[in-house]
Amino acid sequence: MSVNLFTTAATVQATCERGLAPYLAAELTACGFPPRREHKTGVEFVATLSDCARLCLQSRVAYSFLYQLLNFRANNADELYRAAAKYPWEDALLPDVEITLTTRVQNDSITDTRYPTLKLKDAIVDRLRQAHGRRPNSNGDKNGAVVHLNWQDDQAWIFLNAAGQKLSDRGYRKIPGRAPVRETLAAAIVQATGYDGSQPLIIPMGGSGALAIEAALIARRAAPGLLRDNYGFKHLKNFSPDDYRQWRKDLAKAKTEAVAPIILGDIDEEAVRAAQQNAKTAGVDGCLKFYTGDFRETPFIGESGGGIIIVNPPYDERMGADAALYKSIGDWLKQKCKGNTAYVFTGNKELAKKIGLRAERRFEFFNAQIDCRLLKFSLY
Ligand SMILES: C[S@@+](CC[C@H](N)C(=O)[O-])C[C@H]1O[C@@H](n2cnc3c(N)ncnc32)[C@H](O)[C@@H]1O
Repeated sequence: MSVNLFTTAATVQATCERGLAPYLAAELTACGFPPRREHKTGVEFVATLSDCARLCLQSRVAYSFLYQLLNFRANNADELYRAAAKYPWEDALLPDVEITLTTRVQNDSITDTRYPTLKLKDAIVDRLRQAHGRRPNSNGDKNGAVVHLNWQDDQAWIFLNAAGQKLSDRGYRKIPGRAPVRETLAAAIVQATGYDGSQPLIIPMGGSGALAIEAALIARRAAPGLLRDNYGFKHLKNFSPDDYRQWRKDLAKAKTEAVAPIILGDIDEEAVRAAQQNAKTAGVDGCLKFYTGDFRETPFIGESGGGIIIVNPPYDERMGADAALYKSIGDWLKQKCKGNTAYVFTGNKELAKKIGLRAERRFEFFNAQIDCRLLKFSLY
């Protein structure tokens, strides 16, 4: 009898960018899935494929949810083929599915990682051809079912990637702007500040809007995954369109509308236009106010205090970052922002010293491999 993976619990690896695992662990715990193990770029827990599908819609910081099908020993590609070909792929994949294979390989017998990918593809295709009498298509676009192989030394794991395309691709950032932070990182930064929608929020170097848009989604308790409609799990055997519609409906109900003002400013007119367009695509333009100009002239809503300010200044020369800019941020925070809590997100530690304020707390993050810090300043 075939197994329905949507109702069968298995080990799941939730993956994320380096630095975000504690946020992911907290998120999964809040959703009722306490992690079994936390590592640098993800957490391990136990769930069904239905749970993974719902988490794809809900998670703000995960990259993907990898549902484990197999764990075996393989010393070379032939052993990998044999173990993978034994798996009943007809229980996991729909007959006419498009498959993308992704691999992470570190094995001495392999010099070209395309080879194990090919062997895994052969194993799946051979098995499906036997079961259905026809072969599925494979390509690299991740728009159908995505199978992931992790092969480290003699240990191999094979997963179904429930997300398909990475979950940071929410679908709202049609215009990326210059030096954007990824949506998942933006969500974690906002979460690190403790923002919940009840405080005024000012983002004076907002660029194309990821921080402000993620903040608005958090404030409205809106599930970020509702913004897109294609996921890997939709291409798997036993996927139920009715269940999927119901999950989306349930998550859409959770929205609240009462949000304190969120202001996004930027000196670059084009960036503000991009942010406006992106916020509209995300359906949160109604909760944001936009402003074009220097950060020191941000129409300030925080004079009575209690607000949160997140500044993400440029951090390399190419983007106009210099000591004077960082010093002026410090001066502005000291002189104009009393009573609020400010956060500066930067990948330049030397320039960060020029702010001239003592950080009360430092949160570690990575932005595209750059070691970054979110510095907290309580402005009494
Ligand atoms: C690192 S980018 C911010 C990226 C943004 N978090 C995003 O996801 O798109 C820095 C931004 O600061 C803006 N900027 C630079 N100097 C500024 C100033 N004096 N006042 C306001 N914005 C400024 C730049 O135009 C740029 O969009």
